Amino acid sequence: MRLLCCMRSGRIPYPSFVNYKKSTKIAMTVRISRIQNDIETINEFNATPGFGVTRSTFSPEYQGAVTYVVEELKKIGAGVSICRAGNIRGRIPGSGEDGPAIMMGSHLDTVVHGGQFDGVVGVVTALEAARIIVEDKIAHQLPIDVVIFAEEEGSRFGRGLLGSSIWTGQLETEQIESIKDDRGVSYQEAMSQAGLKLDDHGKLKPRDIRAMLEVHIEQGAVLEKRGHRIGLVEAIAGIRQLNITIIGTADHAGTTPMEGRLDPLQTAARIIIAVDKIARNTGPNTVATVGRITCEPAQVNVIPGLVRFSIDVRDSNKIMLASAVTAINQTVKEICAERGLLFEIVQLSEAEPVTLSKSIIDLLEEKAREKKVAPYKMVSGAGHDTALIAELTEAGMIFVPSRDGLSHCPQEFTRLEDIALGCEILLATIIQLAA
Ligand code: GLV
Ligand code: MN
Ligand code: MN
Repeated sequence: MRLLCCMRSGRIPYPSFVNYKKSTKIAMTVRISRIQNDIETINEFNATPGFGVTRSTFSPEYQGAVTYVVEELKKIGAGVSICRAGNIRGRIPGSGEDGPAIMMGSHLDTVVHGGQFDGVVGVVTALEAARIIVEDKIAHQLPIDVVIFAEEEGSRFGRGLLGSSIWTGQLETEQIESIKDDRGVSYQEAMSQAGLKLDDHGKLKPRDIRAMLEVHIEQGAVLEKRGHRIGLVEAIAGIRQLNITIIGTADHAGTTPMEGRLDPLQTAARIIIAVDKIARNTGPNTVATVGRITCEPAQVNVIPGLVRFSIDVRDSNKIMLASAVTAINQTVKEICAERGLLFEIVQLSEAEPVTLSKSIIDLLEEKAREKKVAPYKMVSGAGHDTALIAELTEAGMIFVPSRDGLSHCPQEFTRLEDIALGCEILLATIIQLAA
């Protein structure tokens, strides 16, 4: 396997008001200083130092961060392979036959100008748990895999959970070939530009995995408000991501009367307001976001000729989600028809709401309570690769609190002590599952 290095910017130190010297006492087995070093080192690989963290999938920064984790995995003797879609697997073999593995991990790609913790926390806690298992010679029958999912955020190729969708076989080869970034570079080309050669082309199958566990920052304010240090995820919201294109007629801003203009941006504005209303009127947990919009030719004195925008719709209830998406599709049709404009709606991604394994949640709760921690059971509004793996096997997620609920922004912050606690619960659970 070959991984290209590297593009380091300055080290982003863990914010100084965290007293991690004091917190070392809290960790019983995991080494908090190693976790801190992992987080800081990974975040040195950043395309936008001083403006949050930007690590686009297969970019030099991304490859640098992945290479760091791969080297750490190799130090503990893990067999590392580059799997389908550029997902990385570091395997610690078990004492038994090469049976189904216990998987743990998350992602290292970020949103543009994101934070230091989204995804990173799941990778470093999995890495630290694997180190302890190897160093302490903890007996286990089943293989234990540390995984890094590629393109979780969808920031480069425009659809979330892409690496895991391809790995689990939700996307076929022809669909993958059509996936391109904003510069027209295909997913495959981006992998080869990054020097990645697959060691394992296989799709993930239920027989490959006994269980999946992911530690993640909450990305909301529920744990903080309720005073809990650990959340256990019972369900992950379903997601539909749409791309809307509206085609009008570009024309002169000064000489074209208001009456009869075919202005796709005005039409998009009406649709965007309607989308907000639909989300508010569908269910208590429905959310919808227009996060990206582009307009052509984007000139001060030209009526736009074409507008493209995304819509991200989420709900933990399958019926509510479907109903919001139907209402949005209908609204786009009606508003464009009223204005006499052509439109196209393309569904970029689809993930159904997922209920996580009751028995894994019970086991996680038992391990949390052994550490004198009362976990809070909750729903994740954010998407996670674990939602797709949960279609193949039993899966669980451990949440650690996000300060002020902030995420996908430079202010994202989670205390080291809480990350270490999440790691300890992960470790205890993995040991039992792999025994
Ligand atoms: C990823 O963080 C998502 O929820 O889209
Ligand atoms: Mn994430
Ligand atoms: Mn994210």
